[in-house]
Amino acid sequence: MSSLAGKRVLVTAGGTREPLDAVRFIGNRSSGRMGVALAAEARRRGAHVFLVASNLAVPPPKGVDLAEAPTAADVRREVSEHADADVVLMAAAVSDYRPVAPESTKRSKEDESWRVELEPTVDVLRELGESRTNGQVLVGFAAETGEGGLQRAREKLERKNLNLIVFNDVSREDVGFDAPENEVVILSPGGERRIDKAPKDEIARAILDEVERLL
Ligand code: CTP
Repeated sequence: MSSLAGKRVLVTAGGTREPLDAVRFIGNRSSGRMGVALAAEARRRGAHVFLVASNLAVPPPKGVDLAEAPTAADVRREVSEHADADVVLMAAAVSDYRPVAPESTKRSKEDESWRVELEPTVDVLRELGESRTNGQVLVGFAAETGEGGLQRAREKLERKNLNLIVFNDVSREDVGFDAPENEVVILSPGGERRIDKAPKDEIARAILDEVERLL
């Protein structure tokens, strides 16, 4: 039997959208496929899955509890309700910034430029790392671009007090954001495991195998 059977697993998936005005937002290219694949696989292994969904471009899996979380603030609220889960997989691309003063109506075009001030959002994963209890497995994701990405992911693993971080290079067109396949490196304080390019459900199985080793 899988060691995930009967465990409570919290997954975030998708990408947040931070409103600029009534119709516009600051978002990202995350489709939610990686998080949805993780939620489906955890469910298959017998876990109770709570999925925090940010603007998914794909349907959520059957048999999971679902909460919609369009913005970073929504993700924080929904995650805090299940922060005592046995396993937390933070696959969502949560915006690091949001407009300070979104306009409540649609801004109409004027001749001058539109200056928008952004403020940082709360880092939900870091908060979870600070309060992590013994026994909880906390997994972060590091979508990096360019040189030194793997090293930055390793630093994030330590800085955010995580058990695992899943690194992928999102400057590539063929894998990662908004693609059916991914190629990742799973980092833990003890080592690293490279997973060759594969469909996201296969990547999800590899990630959950590592999680099960830690449970
Ligand atoms: N994350 C989060 N809350 C945020 C932003 C990100 O929980 N407000 C989580 C993501 O879900 C992901 C991980 O943090 O699991 C990596 O996010 P990233 O933005 O790459 O990390 P940062 O520490 O903000 O690093 P950087 O300095 O590269 O922005």
